[in-house]
Amino acid sequence: MGATRRAVLTSAGAAAAGGIAGVQGSLAAPDSGETVADPVVLGPATDIPVGGGRVYSTATVVVTQPAAGDFKAFTSICTHWGCQVTAVENDQIICRCHGSRFSAADGSVSLGPATLPLSPMNVTVKDGQIILS
Ligand code: FES
Repeated sequence: MGATRRAVLTSAGAAAAGGIAGVQGSLAAPDSGETVADPVVLGPATDIPVGGGRVYSTATVVVTQPAAGDFKAFTSICTHWGCQVTAVENDQIICRCHGSRFSAADGSVSLGPATLPLSPMNVTVKDGQIILS
């Protein structure tokens, strides 16, 4: 993933940053002053259907699996007015507040009113568990 933690936190907004820090705890990076969050086990990879996904509301992240074994993650804070997205259906991440839809593959806007994509987040699968880092 190309996004730095700073970019993710900046674009996701204070609500997302607060949610992640609240779940994960944090460490101060010694040379940058930037907050570095600890990895979080979200749950079993088997919870994420191919072509679908799952919203982890406490961690403010949505994890998708657009193709078998290809896991993606994005902030679950909608770029329109900051509601949390609610579902992943038919390869679309859905915000029911005002109807925005985002690609489950890359977080890009499929349907407004949102105009900005969901910021990517880093997840890996280890021992069958999805790890947010
Ligand atoms: S906050 Fe998501 S569509 Fe408005």
